[in-house]
Amino acid sequence: MATKHDPRAIKVLHVSPEAVPFCKVGGLADVAGSLPPSLRNSGADCRLLLPAWDGVLDTARKNGLKLVRVPRSVDVAIRWKVHKGTLWMSSGEGLPVYFLESPFFEGKQIYPQQLDSESVLPFVFLSLAALELADAAEWYADVMHCHDWGTAPLISALLWHRYYRFMFSQYKTVFTIHNLAHQGLLPLHSLRDWGLVDDAFTLNGLEFYGGANLMKGAITGASAVTTVSPAYSREIQTENGGVGLGGLLRSHNSKIHGILNGLDTEYWNPATDSLLFHNYSPDDLAGKAQCRNTLFDQLGWKEDGRPLFTSVGRMVDQKGFDILLPSIQRMVEWGCRLYLVGSGQHEYETAVREAVDKWPDAVASFVGYDEEVAHKAYAAGDFFLMPSKFEPCGLSQLISLRYGALPVVRSVGGLADTVFEYGSPEGNGFLFSEYSAEGLLSAVGRSLDVFRNDATGYRSAQKKAMQSDFSWDRSAPLYLDLYRSLLP
Ligand code: GLC
Repeated sequence: MATKHDPRAIKVLHVSPEAVPFCKVGGLADVAGSLPPSLRNSGADCRLLLPAWDGVLDTARKNGLKLVRVPRSVDVAIRWKVHKGTLWMSSGEGLPVYFLESPFFEGKQIYPQQLDSESVLPFVFLSLAALELADAAEWYADVMHCHDWGTAPLISALLWHRYYRFMFSQYKTVFTIHNLAHQGLLPLHSLRDWGLVDDAFTLNGLEFYGGANLMKGAITGASAVTTVSPAYSREIQTENGGVGLGGLLRSHNSKIHGILNGLDTEYWNPATDSLLFHNYSPDDLAGKAQCRNTLFDQLGWKEDGRPLFTSVGRMVDQKGFDILLPSIQRMVEWGCRLYLVGSGQHEYETAVREAVDKWPDAVASFVGYDEEVAHKAYAAGDFFLMPSKFEPCGLSQLISLRYGALPVVRSVGGLADTVFEYGSPEGNGFLFSEYSAEGLLSAVGRSLDVFRNDATGYRSAQKKAMQSDFSWDRSAPLYLDLYRSLLP
């Protein structure tokens, strides 16, 4: 097999607007921060290009990276004016990361509230700069791997940009859809400024119901399209799950692949996690009980044997808060305790706070995002709630499995690919299909029954959950196979 020092190694540039540990809005950052290093360990010459949003270079240095300035700038013409970007490259062992510095990324909160001809420019600049990187950095990728709408313009540029389309044959492209709910929609005329030829403005181009759709261009032009779980790859090709692009995705069926996300299992490891009160492993769960007790002390709760259901994540429609909230009263009556961690839509945050006021002995919350609080919540829980309306992959259920909190989830997308009903050979959680409070409560009811009446069964499911392999070791080779299949 080719090694990373081998000139025959496949060269892949990942381009993403966000990646841990440098900057994060959502789950894409976790993937962009952990997939490329794992591919590199598997022998690909994989690198990452990331915008230097405010604070990113400082964070990189604080994380111990030594940054070297690439002598040549990347020059990108937008609106008939040349914009210069500076590349900083991390040196030494580990994944080479190129940080792109430019006024386009200053004073921004990564994703704009609204997409228009101005607010889209940082993403256009990032995408076109990726195509200039080869000459500036003297490193020529075979494959450009783009993530979500923010880097979709790269693929459109290879098809329809008056200049970059002549580079089409230089690169194979992979476009990964992390969430089809965000497609990059903006007025069609907003694209006029960045050098696209007329074809881009037609139905076979980016035109979408009178506007423009950035993902549409990437789906059309990419050599391969991947999405983050096999179930989601099927759902997005249906009328309902396709969010307007189902037909287009179906027509490209042969190049669509569902590859399950992996988890950074070194970072998410209850045996070594320094943010936990106590560490534990599948063979010695004493530390997990202590995590729970210490959290209870902090919340002012007395241990009385009631099971703890936690939830960690954004309090938004996608995550099923409109069916979770109306379920709380019944869960409390049934003798459950809930600890809800996260932030999101105002109405959900308010309702969560009201529930805490109403049932202080059974419901607690942390409204906001705090990495340490999240880790402690995963560790303390007996069960993990994730009743998502849709879920491309979902990382929280993978973390909860590894931390021994059995997931109670809706059977959709990546949840359906990773959680299996208690009692089946792979049983590690509880599932429901109907999107309603009743649906969720039916699964909660089954989980309670097991917790109270079948301690041995619960323990063995917990052990199975903690031992299941959802690391990148499982999924990274599938990406490598895909890259290889694209190259001659
Ligand atoms: C998005 C999806 C989530 C997925 C993540 C990483 O945040 O909503 O399901 O796990 O991207 O791919």
